[in-house]
Amino acid sequence: MAKTKSSNKKPQYIQRFSLKQRIEHWLFFSLFVTLLLTGLPQKFFETGWAADAVRLLGGLDFMRWLHRMAGWGFSIFVVYFLGYSIIGMLLGRVAPTMIPFPADLREVCKSLLWNAGLANRPLSPRFNYQQKFEFWGLLFGGLLMMVTGLMLYFPIQTARWLPGQFIPAAKTAHSYEAMLALLVIAFWHLYNAIFRPSVFPLDRTMIHGKISLDHLKEEYPLEYRRLFPDEEDGCAETPADPSSSR
Ligand code: HEM
Repeated sequence: MAKTKSSNKKPQYIQRFSLKQRIEHWLFFSLFVTLLLTGLPQKFFETGWAADAVRLLGGLDFMRWLHRMAGWGFSIFVVYFLGYSIIGMLLGRVAPTMIPFPADLREVCKSLLWNAGLANRPLSPRFNYQQKFEFWGLLFGGLLMMVTGLMLYFPIQTARWLPGQFIPAAKTAHSYEAMLALLVIAFWHLYNAIFRPSVFPLDRTMIHGKISLDHLKEEYPLEYRRLFPDEEDGCAETPADPSSSR
């Protein structure tokens, strides 16, 4: 933890994400972008831009090979991540900060009222309900891509166990889930990481892993209170204010 310049009592920044978590984030991101870049030209094969993309990516055979290799990497990563998280939580070594609780539902309702200017801003814990929603969406979406991708990879083996119609169904699911994931990342995630007024021009937390105490207090007041229980003003509710960052 870095020490504050103005006070000796508490640091100005605290570590929010460890190096391991940041490596996981960027690894997942790189695999996801590789899969999109090598998958979308296959989906839109009849368009001019797809033909250019295939040429740029070294031809169709290489692009398909790259997609399958990145697919293996992605699948191994998802299985590792799930195994590590579940075992870690059972052993009490991984905090269940992404598990949804009834309090998240209350945060959703209060947030809607806050956005309409009818309530104070809800107090978020370490991860707010939007981050949890996105996390679970990506996890389930990732599992779906993994299962359907493997069915397309091994169609003959799949047809030995399941009716043949499952292969085109897997292709449709794989294809549309790719579009859904692209939209979620391009609009929701990038808005939150880049264009949200409180972080613009870039939220660097996933780069250096640190968050300023002011930002922590504003965005995740319950986490601030958990880390600094002695602070009296740490968790005051922000009044409904249309100019505050949403
Ligand atoms: C988020 C991750 C992924 C994205 C965004 C993605 C995207 C795509 C897209 C858009 C297509 C073309 C579908 C169409 O023709 O309509 C495709 C095809 C395919 N994907 Fe994925 N995919 C992902 C993960 C995976 C994984 C994990 C695997 C396997 C382990 C995989 C294996 C395949 C295979 C085998 C095909 C058929 C094309 C071929 O034969 O090379 N994909 N993917």
